[in-house]
Amino acid sequence: MDGVTVQAPGKVNLRLLVGPVRADGYHPLRSLMVALDGPADRVTVAPAAQRSVTCPGIDGPDNLAWAALDALERAAGEVLPPVAVTIDKVLPARAGMGGGSSDAAAVLVAADRLLGLDFGAQRLEKAAAEVGSDVPFFIRGGAQWATGRGEVLAPASAPAFACVIVAGAAGLSTAAVYRAFDDLPPPPPDDGAPPPSGAAGLARWCRNDLWPAARSLDPGLAKVHDLLTSAGAAPALLCGSGSAIAGITATADEAGAIAERVAVALPPARVMRAGFPGA
Ligand code: C5P
Repeated sequence: MDGVTVQAPGKVNLRLLVGPVRADGYHPLRSLMVALDGPADRVTVAPAAQRSVTCPGIDGPDNLAWAALDALERAAGEVLPPVAVTIDKVLPARAGMGGGSSDAAAVLVAADRLLGLDFGAQRLEKAAAEVGSDVPFFIRGGAQWATGRGEVLAPASAPAFACVIVAGAAGLSTAAVYRAFDDLPPPPPDDGAPPPSGAAGLARWCRNDLWPAARSLDPGLAKVHDLLTSAGAAPALLCGSGSAIAGITATADEAGAIAERVAVALPPARVMRAGFPGA
């Protein structure tokens, strides 16, 4: 069999509520995650004489894709035939869009198919949780409530929306953002409000408790946020732990108009368009 190629999309967290750090160093979350239609990495897994991971910037064992193959092998309980993973990177790194986690999930799905393991979603999600907190989400996609450290999932409803995503000039380390969160006053409690039924309600409902921490590490993010809101985004929302910021709109036309407005002030390569079909 030739290689298996899988798309690896990005995500935004429409709500990311963060609790006080746990004894294991992770933070308890309650987050509404949605997988985006838009820019996506392409992950190919092919038979090979020995294992390799080729990805611009992060080759080999440092890539989460390598950890994904290790986790698959542990789940299989036997040594698996070696594979070559090739990742065509489109999503920005250290942006909070889950690119690395999505690539790792795509490796699990593609290797499972290539090697005829037939694990099914549940076993793949279990292996994914060993790779990283966000990886199980990308096995499922769609809209999911994520709790625990992000690995406990339940299907969610979320309205359709479009968005303009601005990648930060520099990325942010997830661990550093969570450490900065620990040094700031705790966020307000969860109001328990359900997601709105239409995109118009997102401006009031969306919330990311990591925003003050990300802004403290990269003060330039406030400017991008203000640029997006003054161009009409409602709301402008930090993606995960940053440093990308999503400007949310009801329609793709509105997102296009905002993209044109912000492209005047920012390098076009940092401005991406995406959307969510609703769930
Ligand atoms: O799970 P993952 O390896 O992606 O997490 C990266 C880092 O982000 C963790 O080492 C931890 O510092 C932080 N993190 C956290 N709480 C979470 C998820 C991640 O503190 N729920």
